[in-house]
Amino acid sequence: MSKFFRIAVFASGSGSNFQAIADAVNAGKLDVHIGLLVCDRPNARVVERAKQLGIPSFVFRPKEYESREQYEQEILQRLQELEIDLVVMAGYMRLITQVLVKPLYGRLINIHPSLLPAFPGLNAVKQALDYGVKVTGVTVHYVDGGMDTGPIIAQQSLDIIPDDTEESIAASIHLIEHVLLPQVIGQIAAGQLKLNKDSYI
Ligand code: GRF
Repeated sequence: MSKFFRIAVFASGSGSNFQAIADAVNAGKLDVHIGLLVCDRPNARVVERAKQLGIPSFVFRPKEYESREQYEQEILQRLQELEIDLVVMAGYMRLITQVLVKPLYGRLINIHPSLLPAFPGLNAVKQALDYGVKVTGVTVHYVDGGMDTGPIIAQQSLDIIPDDTEESIAASIHLIEHVLLPQVIGQIAAGQLKLNKDSYI
């Protein structure tokens, strides 16, 4: 097996974060190997991106399995076969169970488009706009199996101005994410971040 720190990315949609990670790797700015894309939607754009980048993918249809645990077992097996060091959830639209969280705790991170613990769950940008907050942002955190919960690794804020719309905020948030996520992955790969495993609940 190569000396590289090996990551897998879980995504369900467009995959612009997946692309940003791959671009950082290809530009020599991020010293990791992307071993696998895991995607639960065969028609998602991210699947096409992986093909174009020559990155192997595991694409599945959740409905074809009896339970979440069953497909997660299959995912876990692939991660273990590929000796994946870190799993990055970037727009993966499913809650994961302890089948993945327990063996991967501390090596499993998620990016969320709000300043957690504010506005977890779906449509975080709309939630922030509707609430009327003046500052929102991006959070990268370890995953503990809850809905966007777990120890926070990094956050970056973004001011909301009066003319902002959901689309304009989402665009700014993506720009932040595309820098912040590769940065955090690089720090973890370099051993600069350590999680106290006692925080596992
Ligand atoms: C990102 O905003 C991320 O924070 C959220 O889902 C979105 C995924 O975007 N979890 P993309 O598919 O990477 O473009």
